[in-house]
Amino acid sequence: MNKMLTEQDFIFKNFSEDLPEKGSFTWKTPSNIALVKYWGKRDPQLPENPSISFTLDACFTITTLEFKKSNLVQGDQKINFDVFFADEKKDDFKPKIQIFFERIKQYVPFISDYDFVIRSRNSFPHSSGIASSASGMSALALCIMSLEKELSPNMTDAYFNKKASFLARLGSGSASRSIEGELVVWGNHNDIQGSNDLYGVEFPSTVHDNFKNYHDTILLVDKGEKQVSSTVGHDLMHGHPFAEKRFEQAHQNLSELNEILQNGDLKRFINIIESEALTLHAMMLTSNPCFILMKPNTLTIINKIWEFRARTNSNICFTLDAGANVHVLYPENEKELVINFIESDLIKYCQNNHYICDRVGLGAKQFE
Ligand code: DP6
Repeated sequence: MNKMLTEQDFIFKNFSEDLPEKGSFTWKTPSNIALVKYWGKRDPQLPENPSISFTLDACFTITTLEFKKSNLVQGDQKINFDVFFADEKKDDFKPKIQIFFERIKQYVPFISDYDFVIRSRNSFPHSSGIASSASGMSALALCIMSLEKELSPNMTDAYFNKKASFLARLGSGSASRSIEGELVVWGNHNDIQGSNDLYGVEFPSTVHDNFKNYHDTILLVDKGEKQVSSTVGHDLMHGHPFAEKRFEQAHQNLSELNEILQNGDLKRFINIIESEALTLHAMMLTSNPCFILMKPNTLTIINKIWEFRARTNSNICFTLDAGANVHVLYPENEKELVINFIESDLIKYCQNNHYICDRVGLGAKQFE
């Protein structure tokens, strides 16, 4: 099904099946790293510009959603749930999930009939500075879609995945890109067929072999809690003096990247990826109030990567998300050269020498 779906298509209408009494679903979902960045949004969780990301493999969340018919009378009351993270009860995770449930209730009204227990864990250390909202929210959205599929057994896989991405987006924008595919586009872009603001779609064109099995070694420069959350950062794009130009630039960069991903031009790839990373942080540096998420070691690593590239003509490059950690990206055929360089020259700038070797992955998987 390649049809583009509208918001109306995501409203649950099928009440023919009886609601199951109780049960559970488990999904493993990856994190992702944006190449063209999403930074700036409007209600309800719609991006101001399109973005594209590599799906990761080693950084993932596993979430089990246990559900049981609620004894409470249906009505306007809040959804009743408990959250456990790495076996520990986490009441401080509840407000964000409560907001998510409130936002998605109109599309999955059956959730009001249940009490839930959410059990989640990440493959990456909790305090690693790696955002877990993309993998966490997409896992939860997929568990809810598994419940919807019990009620609508004839649902197609295509609809299942699109609605999972649609729901995940309402939890965290970047989570819409953590459902399926190696490269995922979220946000309407004229050159990319099927792309739209409501849900993520797999990059529709054939990707050049140069980008197969692409590597992302994540250098954990600072594992502390960020001083400014992504949500606050997005908000500061309202009234930002450079916002409109930035949104335009993201469209142009995605147009170029669309060609590059097909023709395999690694030098142009590097140029766009690094410019996107530094532009994201430039938006933070120039917002009001302004803030800096990079640390001195972030800049040291960037400079070392540039020196190494000039010396060796390698296709190594970096990107950043909303934090101090550096994602080092490189093609499969350079993995030995680059990993040796990382280990000998870059690891010393990581907190406790900590880094994660990741690569492009395929997307979410259900556990039976
Ligand atoms: C810098 O998806 O974390 O990683 O929608 O408020 O949950 P919310 O924000 P979030 O923002 C991600 C920002 C980014 C860039 C990106 O992933 O595209």
